Amino acid sequence: MAAHDIAVSDTRPPLDPLSERGWSLHRSESANADATVSELGKLGDRIGTRVGGRAGALEEVIEPHSADAAHPRSLSARYGLGALPFHTELSHRTRPCRYLLLGCIDPGSPAAATMLLDWQTLGFSPEELNLLEATPMLVRSGRRSFYTTILAPGGAFLRYDPGCLEAVDQRGRIALALIENRIAAASPQAHQWRQGDILIIDNWRVLHGRSPSDPASGRRLARILIDA
Ligand SMILES: [Fe+2]
Repeated sequence: MAAHDIAVSDTRPPLDPLSERGWSLHRSESANADATVSELGKLGDRIGTRVGGRAGALEEVIEPHSADAAHPRSLSARYGLGALPFHTELSHRTRPCRYLLLGCIDPGSPAAATMLLDWQTLGFSPEELNLLEATPMLVRSGRRSFYTTILAPGGAFLRYDPGCLEAVDQRGRIALALIENRIAAASPQAHQWRQGDILIIDNWRVLHGRSPSDPASGRRLARILIDA
């Protein structure tokens, strides 16, 4: 397990490991759930402005859901308790949130890891980056569906979510297959949660996923989404 980068009480800005590798780990001083959620909010408010999640809430508690119990357009609806595939949070918005903060209320037993993968390590060639930046894709999100590209102009962020992203032509299918193949061959980092852990993830750079889970595990993570 990685050493903790800074304590929450530390006065240094929480951005250094975040800018180096796209995510950073912090530790709430108290293992108490309320303290973890409060530290999560403080860290988030230091780096930007909160945005609402799928149901509009500025702060959510996420738990493993079976496919039946999940929001119909969530990844859990498709993948249930199996491994949740790598994705960009809020891919169904025209501008996905910049940061995702997760705080561990209960790691659960058995525990499920959060998987982290920096898309800039996937080895895309200039031609492949062009393909990802230029190929139209459909983001399917009910009446708010829209066309976009996987890579934002200039590579500002990568939008990838197999739950809502669809190819509209052969180039789109090639682009999706390219990402799937690179992810399958990558060596992601696995974060094994401990109560009180807080992860700040640069959602424009680092894809996240979850190892297989169990509804009875008791795993609970607090989540806030930040624009900056
Ligand atoms: Fe997510």
